[in-house]
Amino acid sequence: MQLRGLLLIVLVIGFEKSYSQSDSKLDPRIINGVEAPISRTKFQVSIRLKQHDRIFGRGHICGGSLIGPNKVLTAAHCLYNTDRKRYRKAKEFIVVMGTQNRFSRVNGTIVSDVTSIAYTNSFSLDTMRDDVGVMFLKTGLPANKTHLTVSPIVLSNSSVAPGTKCQVSGWGKTSQGLLSTDLMMTNVSIIQQGVCRTSYGNGIVEGMFCAGSLLGGTDSCQGDSGGPLVCNNELVGIVSWGNGCAQKGFPGVYSNVSYYRNWIDSRNASAPVDYSFGFLSLSFTLALGILFN
Ligand SMILES: *[C@@H]1O[C@H](CO)[C@@H](O)[C@H](O)[C@H]1NC(C)=O
Ligand SMILES: *[C@@H]1O[C@H](CO)[C@@H](O)[C@H](O)[C@H]1NC(C)=O
Ligand SMILES: *[C@@H]1O[C@H](CO)[C@@H](O)[C@H](O)[C@H]1NC(C)=O
Ligand SMILES: *[C@@H]1O[C@H](CO)[C@@H](O)[C@H](O)[C@H]1NC(C)=O
Ligand SMILES: *[C@@H]1O[C@H](CO)[C@@H](O)[C@H](O)[C@H]1NC(C)=O
Ligand SMILES: *[C@@H]1O[C@H](CO)[C@@H](O)[C@H](O)[C@H]1NC(C)=O
Repeated sequence: MQLRGLLLIVLVIGFEKSYSQSDSKLDPRIINGVEAPISRTKFQVSIRLKQHDRIFGRGHICGGSLIGPNKVLTAAHCLYNTDRKRYRKAKEFIVVMGTQNRFSRVNGTIVSDVTSIAYTNSFSLDTMRDDVGVMFLKTGLPANKTHLTVSPIVLSNSSVAPGTKCQVSGWGKTSQGLLSTDLMMTNVSIIQQGVCRTSYGNGIVEGMFCAGSLLGGTDSCQGDSGGPLVCNNELVGIVSWGNGCAQKGFPGVYSNVSYYRNWIDSRNASAPVDYSFGFLSLSFTLALGILFN
């Protein structure tokens, strides 16, 4: 099993061994993608670790989708620090939108801090079950102004038929094995659940589905995690995991947006924990101030 967030590369090696893919000569990277047209990826965001983004663009770890002026949908595993075995804090992230080139800020590029995050309590790295998370942005879309290059996408709320052609996009690894500088996009088809299980067996549980090509050759890959799978202008899937990338017989696995629709809709920006910490430390400072006076 190969997770598609960059932060998980160490883990990936272990998983791949158990699949004994070592004799495969296939290029295990996204191939046959094209540069994504801005008009079709206005909702695409780059999720970055602030600490590593001092050189703008270097901190990219995952993709995500803007689903409201201040709300981003991504994968739970993108929010998890595998080294420390804990979820990251909101303040460790920044979110960048309105740029095709990961390294350049252009007119319209929005760079935002994250005020709070939420993830499904049931997400597990072992099974990849419920790989869904949301982030709330400090600086989202400006109110009442149309933005030329950034706008949210509608969530799917229905079943999408197998065979439907969809698009997946991201700055993930390309056939060169490096993260892409430009946002790339490729066509993939929704694959029947039964066929998906032929590839992955019981690894496929409710809330997951496959998309790609059984022939291999085009797929999402590491660094694309959390990003959008879009069918007919609706957000249908979240890039989650796969066995390698673009391998014959192993399409990409996605979290099913309509399956998690209620959970996603019911997440709010309120972050009582963060506020109370702020409040506590403020009261503590005040108390100290009083003591020392
Ligand atoms: C930047 O974009 C805004 C709209 O997003 C536009 O009004 C403005 O003219 C642009 N400025 C330049 C220098 O292109
Ligand atoms: C934005 O538009 C809404 C309704 O169209 C209006 O109620 C609100 O006052 C506007 N906000 C700003 C900041 O202009
Ligand atoms: C979901 O779709 C159904 C039927 O198409 C519609 O009646 C319902 O309002 C939709 N729900 C949401 C939350 O959009
Ligand atoms: C995806 O399909 C569209 C039309 O069906 C085609 O124009 C486009 O070139 C395809 N993109 C890729 C990356 O194959
Ligand atoms: C996603 O979940 C919905 C609701 O449970 C289901 O109707 C739909 O078939 C699933 N989509 C896929 C592609 O499996
Ligand atoms: C979010 O807000 C809505 C309505 O204000 C409420 O029904 C829902 O329970 C809230 N969700 C969470 C997770 O707090």
